[in-house]
Amino acid sequence: MSSVAHLMPVFNRLPVAFASGQGVWLTDTNGKRYLDGLAGIAVNGLGHSHPELVRALQQQAAQLIHVSNLYQVPEQELLAAKLARCSGMSEVFFANSGAEANEGAIKLARLFGLQQGKTQAKIVVMSDAFHGRTMATLSATGNDKVQKGFAPLVTGFVRVPFNDVQAIRDLQNDAQISAVMLEVIQGEGGILSLSAGVLSQIRQLCDDNNWLLMIDEVQTGVARTGQWFAHQLEGVTPDVMTLAKGLGSGVPVGAVLTHGRANGVFHVGAHGTTFGGNPLAMAAGLATLRAIEAENLLHNAQRQGDAIRAGLAAVLQPFMADGRVREIRGRGLMIGVELDRNCTELVTLALDAGLLINVTHETVVRLLPPLIISDAESAELVERLGGLIQKFLQAR
Ligand SMILES: Cc1ncc(COP(=O)(O)O)c(C=O)c1O
Repeated sequence: MSSVAHLMPVFNRLPVAFASGQGVWLTDTNGKRYLDGLAGIAVNGLGHSHPELVRALQQQAAQLIHVSNLYQVPEQELLAAKLARCSGMSEVFFANSGAEANEGAIKLARLFGLQQGKTQAKIVVMSDAFHGRTMATLSATGNDKVQKGFAPLVTGFVRVPFNDVQAIRDLQNDAQISAVMLEVIQGEGGILSLSAGVLSQIRQLCDDNNWLLMIDEVQTGVARTGQWFAHQLEGVTPDVMTLAKGLGSGVPVGAVLTHGRANGVFHVGAHGTTFGGNPLAMAAGLATLRAIEAENLLHNAQRQGDAIRAGLAAVLQPFMADGRVREIRGRGLMIGVELDRNCTELVTLALDAGLLINVTHETVVRLLPPLIISDAESAELVERLGGLIQKFLQAR
């Protein structure tokens, strides 16, 4: 008999366990099927049991799983080259999670600052940001609940309101600033996007002041928004980009990518990892990127995302008109439906109805379905979720 008695109770788990998955569908231990509108929180971009991913992992596991970074790992070189080609970035450090990638980026920004004599280097971060749960990344995160209980926080972060370029401009006289760190679309923050033009202005400010522009693409990256990376929506190249989640399709892979002034900041011994970039993780990353290209998933993410937003807007039109549905937003398959009230209950209502969704910030239904979702499955998602939201809003 299994029991949660020996698990640390940090997660508020729903009363369901999954036995298997196929495409966008999961089956629980009782045989009930669920439409996966969340993809393991933006991880399973290829859906579940994608044949090419499974084949690549089986093959790599049978050949070599881990050797450590004491040795050359050709699979890292291959994945780094592929990422560089998709992103226009130059150098890659492989880690194992989003928090770990961001931790690396924060270290890199401090080292970059130090090279210019900034001995107390600071990083500008945003309100409502989410960068992870390690000490440095939770300190960079703009959410009191994540930070509560963990004082003293890591210092060296200056917080400004999201989307407020002037607040960043006002920091130009602070000689210790060495970087600006942000998400182009805040996922945990409630699917909030930078307004058009803001990223370009921040890019310019970083150039003018020799600051690094560090973009956390842990949730937005790897085709989620219909571009390889969300910053490409605005044609801006960062100096540092972090990835995780969708990169390994469920095998833990994180990455810090650098370009231009940020290249070569990490010297031998400045950073490291035991697991990061092992052959199995790299096989997962390579298979993921190959499938995204082969199946044209950038285009599919755009198309299905637009269809889901339009479908929900049609179904929920009367509720949008009277303000009970405040907004349907997002890019590609990163979708938020903001209601005028706390709707956390929708998660369990959806579960009962065979649909996996998430609610952030209490009022925002968040959808992050697999990138492989088909027309029929998108329509099914709209029908199930639209009906649930209608019923939820009518009952209250
Ligand atoms: C933007 C962003 N950064 C960092 C993280 C942390 O990633 P991980 O949970 O892999 O440490 C997340 C996780 O939700 C995220 O959305």
